Amino acid sequence: MMPLKSLVRGLVATLALVGVAAGVQARPFDAIKKSGKIVIATEGQFAPFNHYEGAKLTGFEVEVAEAVAAKLGVKPEWKALSFDALLTGLGQDRWDLVIASHGITDERAKAVTFTEPHYCSGGVIIAKNPAIKTAKDLGGKVIAVQTGTSYQENVKKVSAVKEIKNFPQDTDARSALASGRVDAWVTDKFVALKALKSGPDAGMKMGDFLFIERIAAAVAKGNSSLAGEFNKGLAAIMADGTYAKISTKWFGEDIRCK
Ligand code: ARG
Repeated sequence: MMPLKSLVRGLVATLALVGVAAGVQARPFDAIKKSGKIVIATEGQFAPFNHYEGAKLTGFEVEVAEAVAAKLGVKPEWKALSFDALLTGLGQDRWDLVIASHGITDERAKAVTFTEPHYCSGGVIIAKNPAIKTAKDLGGKVIAVQTGTSYQENVKKVSAVKEIKNFPQDTDARSALASGRVDAWVTDKFVALKALKSGPDAGMKMGDFLFIERIAAAVAKGNSSLAGEFNKGLAAIMADGTYAKISTKWFGEDIRCK
């Protein structure tokens, strides 16, 4: 028979293991502060919000997150991943925060905790045919959207759409419209404005808003200490002119929620 002592020891070790595995805990702000760095995930393919200029990750919300991190006294460590991996990774504690233009929805709020919004915008309809401008013009049409986005969800709600074509990246949805494989593309208003301005897609026209949304960063469900500190930092950069400066640099206007 196994001596009692080693049985107990084995039991304790097993419990510790299970505990570690089951208790994969989101890092509260204290732990982040102590480590000196916050791990932030984004997509890096959604200009001008989060994208690459050469090898450099940049964009409006990259700069906003960096300004907030500076207020909190922590160094951001960036990770760039496909859009559909971002919120899931919070639940697995692979990063502390996600900032990738996520609209606040009830569905997402079941899985993650949203911070206060860092901007307000909405999905717009873009087409080459000037007759496609409003939701009702989408009837019988083929529409391109990025998979897993609020654009996809909202196009689904439009009755009589002929087909929704999903693309892993928004830039592919845009190319589908540019090359005439779809009738319209639904994306963020500011993404559309940038795409229209950057030349090659000059034949595209921006129609109406299909819906509007509040865009926020997200942390693991229930990580209220981190959400709270992020909100304080965001409020601080909104109050001291930093936010307005970053927003004006990227958009020529202040895009905070009013
Ligand atoms: N605002 C949209 C949403 O909430 C699209 C976000 C897309 N973001 C990105 N990094 N591609 O789903």
